[in-house]
Amino acid sequence: MSLIRIQDLKVYYTGHGLFRKQSVTKAVDGVSLFVNDHETLGLVGESGSGKSTLGRAALLLIKPTAGSILFDGVDMMNAAVHKNRPAMKKFRREAQIVFQDPYGSLNPRMKVGKIISDPLRVHGVRGRKVLKEKALRLLELVGLPASAYDTYPYAFSGGQRQRISIARALSIGPRFIVADEPVSSLDISIQAQLLNLFKEIQEKEGVSYLFISHDLRTVAFIAHRVAVMYLGRIMELAQTKELITGPLHPYTKLLLSSIPSKDRRTTEQKEQTNGHEHGCVFYPRCGLAKDICMDISPDLKEVSPGHSVACHLY
Ligand SMILES: Nc1ncnc2c1ncn2[C@@H]1O[C@H](COP(=O)(O)OP(=O)(O)OP(=O)(O)O)[C@@H](O)[C@H]1O
Ligand SMILES: [Mg+2]
Repeated sequence: MSLIRIQDLKVYYTGHGLFRKQSVTKAVDGVSLFVNDHETLGLVGESGSGKSTLGRAALLLIKPTAGSILFDGVDMMNAAVHKNRPAMKKFRREAQIVFQDPYGSLNPRMKVGKIISDPLRVHGVRGRKVLKEKALRLLELVGLPASAYDTYPYAFSGGQRQRISIARALSIGPRFIVADEPVSSLDISIQAQLLNLFKEIQEKEGVSYLFISHDLRTVAFIAHRVAVMYLGRIMELAQTKELITGPLHPYTKLLLSSIPSKDRRTTEQKEQTNGHEHGCVFYPRCGLAKDICMDISPDLKEVSPGHSVACHLY
């Protein structure tokens, strides 16, 4: 059984577009995937593809529009609706998130010791001595000196702050962590250190990650399997090595061959929402598109064991 299994998840944002016309952004549009125990699933795609929305919806930090989320076999959307407190409490404890911005996500008025032990307190762990011991163990686990315990976040660099965020996420012994671009704002050399830390923690603590990045190289370094996302949909999903050496989807091939620009997406998305509503979301950018691609959105289908692609070419 998978630790977390997401089925046909949809997250639509409604807002007001030009001339007060209501607009709908299908940020996540029918995504199904799972993450096993001790596994890292990488989620890659350019800006605006819906990665953060998917990651947050998977933790119910955003309310999904439709679909289901099974965590450890329990339907969490159901648990939320029916106010199943024990199930929600377990989920809040066992599923955590690490954000991209190491500057905005730590309370500047709290000392590091309190920041990383506070989740424990919230979840009912009592006793100053116990909390301090746990905090010191966490600092060691993420490679920070014990002296950090009595220091405020401002004294730390971006990479060190990210270690603090990781320690905080780990404090209540989660089994699943959504890491949303956790190294993207850091220098390359620091990125490598942190990616290694994520791996080390997985080996020691046995956690699973949904590891989000717009950079395929980052994801390939850390993930066992990779899902490629584009405008709300999963285009391809495979074991990392297979995805890198034998990509099938034209979009995956594009990601592998270049680093697509950010603003291009916006134009393409407009094209997509104006009059191109049924076909493949990648159609406007695809060099290999056929007639059917304009009209029918391809399902994600398994073409060889563990390798799925959403493309009419296969
Ligand atoms: N709160 C919101 N309200 C309305 N639209 C939103 C909201 N958050 C995200 N969106 C839109 O949903 C789409 C997906 O955004 P999301 O942030 O999930 O993408 P992303 O892949 O994480 O991008 P990035 O790489 O820039 O972080 C985008 O078109 C974005 O503009
Ligand atoms: Mg994001």
